Amino acid sequence: MCGIVGYIGNKDCVSFLIEGLQRVEYRGYDSAGFIVMEEDSMKTHMKKSVGKIIDLKKKLKNSDKGNIGIAHTRWATHGEPSIANSHPHVSNNKKIHLVHNGIIENYISLQKKLESKGYTFYSETDTEILVNLIESYYTDDIELATKKALHDVKGTYGIGVIHIDEPDKLIVARLGSPLLIGIGENENYFASDTSSVVAKTDDVVYLDDKEIGIIYKDRVIHKNLEDEILEKNVEKIDIEVQEIEKDGYDHFMLKEIFQQPRTLIDTMRGRILLDEGTTNLGGLKQHPEVYDALINAEKIYIIACGTSWHSALIGEYMIEEYAKISVEVEYASEFRYRDPIITDKTVVIAISQSGETADTLAALKEAKRKGAYTIGLCNVVGSTISKVTDAGVYLHAGPEIGVASTKAFTSQVMALALITVDIARHKNMSFREGYKIVKEMKLLPTLIDSILDNAPAIKDVSLKFKDAKNFLYLGRGFNFPVALEGALKLKEISYIHAEGYPAAEMKHGPIALIDKDMPVVFIAIKDAIYEKVITNMKEVKARNGVIITIASYGDEEIEKLSDYVIKIPDTTNLLMPILTVIPLQLISYYIATARGLDVDMPRNLAKSVTVE
Ligand code: F6R
Repeated sequence: MCGIVGYIGNKDCVSFLIEGLQRVEYRGYDSAGFIVMEEDSMKTHMKKSVGKIIDLKKKLKNSDKGNIGIAHTRWATHGEPSIANSHPHVSNNKKIHLVHNGIIENYISLQKKLESKGYTFYSETDTEILVNLIESYYTDDIELATKKALHDVKGTYGIGVIHIDEPDKLIVARLGSPLLIGIGENENYFASDTSSVVAKTDDVVYLDDKEIGIIYKDRVIHKNLEDEILEKNVEKIDIEVQEIEKDGYDHFMLKEIFQQPRTLIDTMRGRILLDEGTTNLGGLKQHPEVYDALINAEKIYIIACGTSWHSALIGEYMIEEYAKISVEVEYASEFRYRDPIITDKTVVIAISQSGETADTLAALKEAKRKGAYTIGLCNVVGSTISKVTDAGVYLHAGPEIGVASTKAFTSQVMALALITVDIARHKNMSFREGYKIVKEMKLLPTLIDSILDNAPAIKDVSLKFKDAKNFLYLGRGFNFPVALEGALKLKEISYIHAEGYPAAEMKHGPIALIDKDMPVVFIAIKDAIYEKVITNMKEVKARNGVIITIASYGDEEIEKLSDYVIKIPDTTNLLMPILTVIPLQLISYYIATARGLDVDMPRNLAKSVTVE
C-alpha cells in the first residue's frame, strides 16, 4: 500500500525521491507526490499527481530543487484518488508538511477538536488532520509538537515531517507501519521499504513502534514518545540492488516464478540434517520455551490472508498427517473478531510474506493477549509480524515485487514442511520417513527447473484460453489448496473469474456451470486419491467441459480424459504442492500478459495490505 521516502543532505534530492517512490510502486498506489525545500532560501517546491509516478515525473520543472524532501505514494482509503487527497499534506499556516502511511482511527474526534479551534480542512484525509494537530501544538520546536500530537493519535502511522522554519531536520515516527532510516555520508534517508534506499546505503536503523527519529544531515537522534534518548543498532540491509530489478525478464512476476529453484534452496539452507533425517530451524530452537510449546501443542492455529492462507491450508494437511497435532486454519480477519479457544497447549502460527498485513498482525496480537505462544513465517526481515511473534522462521525468498505472490508461496510451503518434519521427528516419524522427505526436499529445485524448461509448451496451452470468461480449478488432498491458489492467481492478474474447489465438491454445485466453454484445470497427480480424481474428471467430460490436467510424467491414461495435459515430475506427497503450483502460476502469467494486462501491478491490488 502507501510508501514513504525522505532525504536530508547537501544534494538535490528530487531524483532520489522519485526513484525511491518507483521502488515502492509494487506495493500498489493510485497517486503520488513530494515536497522539497532549499535549506538556504527556505523555498519549497511541491508536485502531486493522480495515477502513476511517470505522470508525476512529467510535471517536473528544472526549478524543482531542494536538499531536504519527503515523498509519498498513496493507496486511497479516506477519500478518492485526487490531488487534494494525495500527500504531502500541509498545515493551515503552510509551514508543516507531512507524509503518512497508516490510518488515524480517531480522526473524527480530532477533526472536531481542531475545527473548534478554527482549523479548516481541504481534503478528505485523516493525514490532513494529523498535520494540523501538529501545528496546533507548535510553538518553536517541530520535534516536540510532533510528539505531543502523536500522544493524541489512535491508529497506525509511519510519518515524515518537515517544518519550513527548521530546515536542518526531518522528523520521522512509527506505530504499526514500517519505517527505517538509511545512514549515508553527510546525508541521511528514510523510507517505508528497504528497496527505496538500497541503491544509496547498506546501513539502516529500523524504528520500532512509538519511536521517533530526528534526522539531520550528519546525525540521527532516536527517542521514544516520552522523550527518552534511545541507542539503536545500525543494521546491514540484506538485499542487493539487482534483487529488486527485473534482470532481463519482462515482469517481476515472471522473474520470481523462474527464481523458485533458487529461492527454495535459500529457504532450506542450513535447515536440513540429512544424516539425522530431520530439519533444524534456528529461529525456533533459539526460543526453547516456544519450541517446546510447539512440539507439545495440542492445538495449532494458523492465521493468514490470501495466498498465505492457502499455504496455511497445506500446512494443516501436513502437520495433522505427519506430526499428529490438530490444526485449524483461519482467515486472520475472522480470527481477530472471534473468541477462539486458546489454552496453554495452543500455539498460533502467523504466515505473512510482507509481515505487515494489518489483519494478520491484529489477529496475532489477539492471540498473544489470550496467552498463546506465537510463531511467524515471514519473508521480509525486520517486518512488524516478525518482531511481534515469540519465534519465527524467515523464508529467505528475497524481495517479492510482483503483487501476485509466487515464490513466497512455495517458500511458505517449504517452511511449513520443515516445521512439520521437525515436530514429527520428535514424535512418531521414523528416521527412514524423515530421511526420505528431507532427501526429496533437496531434489525439488532440479524438479522445478524441469517444469520451467517446459514453459513454452505451458504458454501454448495457456494462450488457447486467453478469452475465457470463467475457470474452475479442482484438486484433492494436498492439492486442494493449490487449486484455490491457481484460481486466485488467475483472477488477480487476468481479471477472469475463477474458482477453486476440492474436486469431489464439484458435484455439490459447481457442476451446474460446466459446459463446452468452461475450462476446468485438474490437478491429478499419481497419489493415493488419484482414482477419485479420475472419476471427477469423467464427470466433467460427460458434460463437455474442457479439461486441462496437471499430471505425473508417464501417466498415459490421463491423455484420454484430458484436452490438454501438462506433465510434471513426482515427489513425496506433502511436497507435491510446490511442484503442482508452478504450471498454475505460469498459466495465469501467460493468460494475463496475452490480455495485455499489467501483471506486476494489477488493478485495485496492493502488495502489502496494511489496512483492515
Ligand atoms: C495474492 C497475494 C495476497 C497476499 C495477502 C497476504 O497473490 O499476494 O493474497 O497473499 O495479501 O499477504 P501477506 O502474505 O504479505 O500477509
